[in-house]
Amino acid sequence: MTSGAAARPRVVLVTGASSGIGRATAHAAAAAHDHLVLVAREESTLVDVEKECLAAGAASTLVVPADLGDDTDVARCVREALGVTGSLDVVVNAGGVVAYGRTEDVPADVFDGVLRTNVTGSVNLARHVVPVLRRQERGTLVLVGSVIGHIAVPEMTPYVVSKWAVRALARQLQVENRDRDDVHVIYAAPGGVDTPIYAQAGNYSGVVGRPPPPVASPEKVARRILRLVDHPRPRAQLGITNNLMRVGFSGLPWLFDVLVGPLFTVAAKDQTTPVAAGSGNVLESVPTGNHLHGDQGNPLVGIGRNLLTVARSRRKR
Ligand SMILES: NC(=O)c1ccc[n+]([C@@H]2O[C@H](COP(=O)([O-])OP(=O)(O)OC[C@H]3O[C@@H](n4cnc5c(N)ncnc54)[C@H](OP(=O)(O)O)[C@@H]3O)[C@@H](O)[C@H]2O)c1
Repeated sequence: MTSGAAARPRVVLVTGASSGIGRATAHAAAAAHDHLVLVAREESTLVDVEKECLAAGAASTLVVPADLGDDTDVARCVREALGVTGSLDVVVNAGGVVAYGRTEDVPADVFDGVLRTNVTGSVNLARHVVPVLRRQERGTLVLVGSVIGHIAVPEMTPYVVSKWAVRALARQLQVENRDRDDVHVIYAAPGGVDTPIYAQAGNYSGVVGRPPPPVASPEKVARRILRLVDHPRPRAQLGITNNLMRVGFSGLPWLFDVLVGPLFTVAAKDQTTPVAAGSGNVLESVPTGNHLHGDQGNPLVGIGRNLLTVARSRRKR
């Protein structure tokens, strides 16, 4: 990002710019007076974000609706961006979707849809962005992963598989681009973040998901992402308990497996809010659900409510 008054504004392309972490990243880049290219599937919310970015100080904005899962669309998006801006300095891939449910309960098209956006989408973006960065001999691609890309959790198989794959992709790209000192591929893994992704998710588990504590704001995660761009590192954990979970998963797998189900039930689900089975925003955008924040409330209160609900349902049995 533009870190000093003398620096020229950078061209920053953000996917998933209409909601959550992507929207917060666009706002933060706008506040640094950068040029913004705003990407997501649905246009009207991007137009709202464009106004927000201009108000926040963006040097310029360009809205390019595109589906990350469609390679032709991504190629067009990068072409359109370059046609206007002439270069790409920073690309943050924050587009993503989730589906909940046991592996066998998530319909095939929804399972594929999560992989299509999160994995194929990241590959598509890399396919068209990396050659630009290499040609320029500079620039940064940030792939937003997740702590979930390091562990296993029940009833999130497509997302878990997709985020392990994003981590693998980032490592591949880092190895392949070692010959360009000023081309950076950064893997950034948030923990729980208060965004709408939980309510927007496809869901075949019966209850809505919620971010496990500690829950960060999308603004905080966006700041961390942009700091990584300023001071590139190949990989970073952005959640304060990510490393604890990773150590538990790898170092004490038997204990992890015993605890993860019960902990997930009370800390990463909202047992008080039943949800009808459906594909959420996995197969197509649900623009009314795209916002900066998820309004998840206090996670400890959420856990307390869950414990009461689980205790009541046990008593009824
Ligand atoms: N929230 C968390 O707790 C958390 C934790 C760890 C990692 N993450 C990761 O952070 C990233 C952002 O998540 P978020 O929580 O900010 O989600 P979010 O608020 O639901 O935003 C998702 C964004 O992605 C866009 N999108 C979805 N599918 C797309 C596609 N096929 N092509 C282009 N854009 C698409 C959505 O807009 P349209 O629907 O209009 O396309 C929206 O702008 C994701 O990779 C997620 O896995 C989130």
